[in-house]
Amino acid sequence: NDGGHDAKNLRVKLVLLGDSGVGKSCIVLRFVRGQFDPTSKVTVGASFLSQTIALQDSTTVKFEIWDTAGQERYAALAPLYYRGAAVAVVVYDITSPDSFSKAQYWVKELQKHGSPDIVMALVGNKADLNEKREVAVQDGIDYAEKNRMFFIETSAKTADNINELFEDFVDYAT
Ligand code: GTP
Ligand code: MG
Repeated sequence: NDGGHDAKNLRVKLVLLGDSGVGKSCIVLRFVRGQFDPTSKVTVGASFLSQTIALQDSTTVKFEIWDTAGQERYAALAPLYYRGAAVAVVVYDITSPDSFSKAQYWVKELQKHGSPDIVMALVGNKADLNEKREVAVQDGIDYAEKNRMFFIETSAKTADNINELFEDFVDYAT
């Protein structure tokens, strides 16, 4: 007995979507292993990783993460991964307006075909490349707000905001 606080083991099923090369796999690798791989290989199909974090009251939250492949040839597989997901993280690269357009495509697809109660986040990755920025922070904020999404800019390279991104979803654990 811990004085009336029941420690629970919760989980969050999460899917990452977004254009090839935006850094989805690097975000997951940073969160799960605390590493960055500058030579990260394109994902084929999808990959699955999990990471458990402990909250202060000794509740644990297990993130079950589907890291999808962003290359166009795999686009038709995406529903297999977002259908069961409680959380969808849509990633773009702040140096690539094309990837921001692609993120908007994924948001629309999730709105049409995802679960109606799916929680969505918009993530502008590669925030360390601010001198090459081509997507204004405010454009990300505005789009996310219109579509009732979380918004955060991250860097898998420097680890900036990576834990914060995942901590946003603790409240949606079941
Ligand atoms: P697909 O698997 O094809 O969908 O791509 P992905 O979104 O998983 O991209 P990946 O994580 O493999 O990263 C692509 C490239 O971007 C790699 O060369 C990474 O090293 C680089 N990269 C990823 N995140 C960052 C970041 O935060 N900053 C910088 N500077 N480079 C990054
Ligand atoms: Mg990948």
